Amino acid sequence: MRKDYIAAAEPADHETEFVEKYWTAVWEQEGGPQGQLDRIPHRDEYRVMAPYMAQLPKGARVMDGGCGLGDWTLYFARQGFSVAGLDLSRQTVEQLQARFPEAEFVDGDIRRTSFPDASFDAYFSWGVFEHFESGLQDCVHEAFRVVKPGGLLFVSVPLDNLRHAVLGSLARPRSAVSNLRFYQWRLTRAELARELEIGGFEVIEVLPINKRQGVLRSLHHEFGLRYEWLLTKGLSVLLAPLIPGSLIAHMVIAVARKPPNKAQHAGPGQ
Ligand SMILES: C[S@@+](CC[C@H](N)C(=O)[O-])C[C@H]1O[C@@H](n2cnc3c(N)ncnc32)[C@H](O)[C@@H]1O
Repeated sequence: MRKDYIAAAEPADHETEFVEKYWTAVWEQEGGPQGQLDRIPHRDEYRVMAPYMAQLPKGARVMDGGCGLGDWTLYFARQGFSVAGLDLSRQTVEQLQARFPEAEFVDGDIRRTSFPDASFDAYFSWGVFEHFESGLQDCVHEAFRVVKPGGLLFVSVPLDNLRHAVLGSLARPRSAVSNLRFYQWRLTRAELARELEIGGFEVIEVLPINKRQGVLRSLHHEFGLRYEWLLTKGLSVLLAPLIPGSLIAHMVIAVARKPPNKAQHAGPGQ
């Protein structure tokens, strides 16, 4: 597992306050929740999870851990699932509750939620489990508690791809750079699988995703191309299919299952 750092104006903030302030500012800059649902079916995360979600009954209870602007919560709520979107950013959750009263948005911390044990048939969380320096286990353990036996977990975190491995070995020591604080963990596929297994889940599949995002970042950081240039966007579309995910993908997604209760699934006479 590899640590990413970020320049912070207030390095003394407690980690949870820092994460809340940081994301509240990001979402404010993006104009707050707007219910942009049309892009969701085109996202890699959706392509991976859709076949599993299709097997759940209508009304199944689903958790969106770290829902951000709430698009995924709204999307699945409109598909007939009973979805709870939970986020640390109180301001964003208040805006979501005001704009979309038909959906369930809760402010809170995915490491210690107020949901009863075994509440959810499925739990998904994109780009959240990696945000705390003590590691992923607090998030994994709480997910294990609130997911029903036999229930599904979908998690994405930043991939520690080969590009990061090479750049990381060339980077200046952190002690030489002031004003930096921990931002997130990056994990390999094997590391993400191990984190979920330590927490009690059975891992079904682990895949690199968001290759185009990874190419865009490389074009920007290594080649100085600006994100908004058409050239950068065009190159990312052309190059992404040609480069292996392990080299360039931005994120890694895991699908896992909480083992079913043996008693629940034992057939007659067993
Ligand atoms: C990278 S964004 C992802 C947002 C959303 N999942 C998406 O894919 O659009 C991370 C989000 O997780 C939230 N977050 C970070 N740590 C959290 C925690 N411990 N509990 C709840 N939310 C958290 C942040 O406030 C932010 O909205």
